[in-house]
Amino acid sequence: MTCGLPYANGPCHIAHLRTYVPADIFVRLLRKMGQEVVFVCGSDTHGTPITVKAEEEGITPREVVEKYHKHFMQLFPKIGVYFDNYGSTDDPLNHNRTVEIGRALLERGYIYEKRVKLPYCPSCKRFLPDRYQRGTCPYCSAQARGDECDQGCGRYLEPGELIDPRCAICGSKAEVREASHFFFKLTAFEDFLREFLKKLDGTDNARNYALQWIEKGLKDWNITRNLDWGIKFPWGEGLVFYVWFDAPIGYISSTEEWALKHGGDWEYFWRGPGPIIHFIGADIIYHHCLFWPSMLKGAGYSLPYAVVASGMVKVEGKIFSKSRGYVVWVEEDYLEKGLDPDALRYYIASYTGHTRDLDFSWSTYGEKVNNELVATLGNFIYRTLLFAKRNYGYIVEGGIEPEVRGEVETALRAILEGLDSYEFKKISDAVLSLASFGNRYLQASEPWKLIETDPLKARMKVHNCLWLVKALAVLMEPIMPSKAEELWLQLKGERRRNVPLDEALEPLEVGVKLSEPWPIFMRVKDEVVKELSTVISRRVASAKG
Ligand code: MF3
Ligand code: ZN
Repeated sequence: MTCGLPYANGPCHIAHLRTYVPADIFVRLLRKMGQEVVFVCGSDTHGTPITVKAEEEGITPREVVEKYHKHFMQLFPKIGVYFDNYGSTDDPLNHNRTVEIGRALLERGYIYEKRVKLPYCPSCKRFLPDRYQRGTCPYCSAQARGDECDQGCGRYLEPGELIDPRCAICGSKAEVREASHFFFKLTAFEDFLREFLKKLDGTDNARNYALQWIEKGLKDWNITRNLDWGIKFPWGEGLVFYVWFDAPIGYISSTEEWALKHGGDWEYFWRGPGPIIHFIGADIIYHHCLFWPSMLKGAGYSLPYAVVASGMVKVEGKIFSKSRGYVVWVEEDYLEKGLDPDALRYYIASYTGHTRDLDFSWSTYGEKVNNELVATLGNFIYRTLLFAKRNYGYIVEGGIEPEVRGEVETALRAILEGLDSYEFKKISDAVLSLASFGNRYLQASEPWKLIETDPLKARMKVHNCLWLVKALAVLMEPIMPSKAEELWLQLKGERRRNVPLDEALEPLEVGVKLSEPWPIFMRVKDEVVKELSTVISRRVASAKG
């Protein structure tokens, strides 16, 4: 299992989590079913995203990378995302693996040299790779970057394709100069890719976009750049590999690093049966469904089993944009405000289907936390535990009613369907529906009356409620792992992790002494929602655009 590697050029934001949180939920669920998973990620450290940032800040690319690599390493656990290895594409393992794959492709005739005409800035005196260049997209006429139509049709662009290129740093009109570059013969893989995509598992958007691009015609891919920062291209002068060549190889080298540290076998995944699953954002489908499988195929590696592409992110109804201020920084805007990491995980999982646009707004956040987590899930759990503690002090005995068992079976089925179809909302909805059922059941049972009129029946009802709380502790863990642990503490006197999914249907351990319960979710106050929304509106107002 992999997640798209974040560029180490800025802090973690909500659009990152749009991919990482569902991936983490997926991994946790697989593990709860007894499967073995190796979950790897790492920093994407090369290319113009890094060098442009370094120039802006007046520091070296290495300094940029070190700063944000550390940031991501520290941040992921805070949001409950645990990778088995978090590597870096600047690690020697990745340099070596990249050169090895480059050599394999060269030897098999999939890489060739060609002279090309490229934009050059006469005043900065350099070629203008990728983000050093702005101009007009030849396909949709939107303003675009050198390698990506980032504001228009989303296409990957080859060097030299932009119309009327300008230098993104000084604004000069670019000249055209000739240079020698190396190309990967993507066109040789067309038939292979069609077959590969037919069999590829994952989300439909990944397959469909990729097939559409094949229909529009593939081009050979320029895999070298005139830059100092990057992995030296050993077979040409003054060239490095294009960042999109060495970045996905980071998935392999991160697995190698994991294998070295834990005595594992990286080749089992990359030259053996795998299966490999990639979680990515929908903006990088081209790279993962066309370039990457062709590279793997050409160099003799295993192919991905699935590509799961998450939809785009909006912030307060506007397309996510760091430069325009429509961004939520995970550390600064969320964690440092003392907000609950699990509530954010829940928002991301439950907001909408995995391939649709996720709109993050603070008012929706407040509503979801207060209505769904506090008033539905938290309320059922707390009321049940409180009633049991006050009236019995321990987990009372009883048998499970068929209706109650049936509800948990339904929830389990929905969760497995969600897992199979990469629909994380199905998983969070199942948990919430089960809690709603619990509330209705508790309300209808009225144990507070029964305890006077029919104490035996009251115990029975409370036992069923406690059994449901235990099922919720098992089922909510992938989405809200820390809250699940906290709930185990209340139910069993100990924190538990990676609790097998089967335990949702198992009998409750009775007789366990209950401690004083506490609510596991906290309301978000209206003032707080207002304050948090102001942070965004102020950022938007002062953004350069
Ligand atoms: N850093 C890239 C981005 O943010 C993603 C790289 S994914 C990998 O768009 F496959 F290249 F690793
Ligand atoms: Zn375009």
